[in-house]
Amino acid sequence: MSHLFPKIPFQLAKNRWVTVEAEFGDRQRAVINKEGLAEARKCISAWPGYAATPLLELPALARELGIGRLFYKQESERFGLRSFKPLGGAYAVQQCLMREVAIRLDRKIVTSDDILSRKYDTIVSDLTVTAATDGNHGRSVAWGAQLFGCRCVIYINKTVTPEREKAIEAYGAEVRRYPGSYDDAVREAFDIAKRENWFVIPDTTDGNVIDAPRDVTQGYAVMAAEAIEQLPDNKPLTHMFLQAGVGGMAAAMCGQFWLEFGASKPRSILVEPEQAACWFASLEKGEPTVIDGDIDSFMAGLACGEISSLAWEILKPGTFAAITIKDEVAPLVMRHLASGFNDDPAIVAGESGVSGLAGLIMASFDEPSRQMLGLTQNSVVLVFGSEGATDETMYHHIVGRPWQEIA
Ligand SMILES: Cc1ncc(COP(=O)(O)O)c(C=O)c1O
Repeated sequence: MSHLFPKIPFQLAKNRWVTVEAEFGDRQRAVINKEGLAEARKCISAWPGYAATPLLELPALARELGIGRLFYKQESERFGLRSFKPLGGAYAVQQCLMREVAIRLDRKIVTSDDILSRKYDTIVSDLTVTAATDGNHGRSVAWGAQLFGCRCVIYINKTVTPEREKAIEAYGAEVRRYPGSYDDAVREAFDIAKRENWFVIPDTTDGNVIDAPRDVTQGYAVMAAEAIEQLPDNKPLTHMFLQAGVGGMAAAMCGQFWLEFGASKPRSILVEPEQAACWFASLEKGEPTVIDGDIDSFMAGLACGEISSLAWEILKPGTFAAITIKDEVAPLVMRHLASGFNDDPAIVAGESGVSGLAGLIMASFDEPSRQMLGLTQNSVVLVFGSEGATDETMYHHIVGRPWQEIA
């Protein structure tokens, strides 16, 4: 075991439903496809402040972990929202407004530019979008609503921190606290949307509402597409460790690499908090499986007990393995990244942002896990630092310094 990280128990299981030869078929293409990515890139790259986020390399940590190369896609600055999430929620708001305005005008096509330039402001300002969130998705939907000029009501569950609540309000949204879990708040947002004729922008689905969660996933795929362009092409990626809540982010990453590289795609390994391991349980059973009880996690964005059925279409046949980790691992990794270990860059990373890397660290120091995953000195691994200091107070408390002092 490394002197850097103590031995902390974790669970790893191979996904029995994956085959190397599995083709990217129609069911996967219904979620992730070339046209969807092209539309998402066109829309998102036109938003003010768009820039591809940096792809960092961590050679010192790679050496410590006994792998060849380690890449870290740094999302802590995306559109100033400090997570990758605007790619999904705000994009889905724009697509929803395009569809609705077209219906109201009886016109076939309303463009993304029409919505961004506020051409139909009189219609849009009368529309309300709503979503449930454990923090980042709601911030993204609220930011999108403000950018495009519609009303926004966001449902948060009982554990969302006051700082994350304020960050959503800062974008002009009304925030309502719901006394249950994330999954309960999701249901409440659906119900109220139906009663009030609002537009629900979920980042998950049980299969009934498809458009918005599919748009969310296609927006996330922009992050994968950027990474594919940024990675060196002389040595292909072998593994991605992907943190999963409802699974939208992981599905977009796994799906986009699968679409691009076919059978030579990297192995995707899902990482979840052990008490909210709905993916681990679902892959074990071979069917979507709900986790009951207290699913609260320090990794707040991953505290989900129900998977998204859209993500299931990609991750059931596409995921190589799943890992569950303990909450206590995440602060260790946050502090490690903030320290700028040896010559590695210092990195600001929040609780859910580090979990993919935390899964890699756990597996790397355990020989049977290395063998199961095929991790070697030649492995080239990508993780997504999916959030920065989305809760500044929490970040300061965990790392011992304000995020502005890092890097
Ligand atoms: C920072 C961060 N990373 C990862 C995730 C997981 O995304 P998903 O719920 O699509 O699996 C979330 C979800 O809220 C998040 O906030």
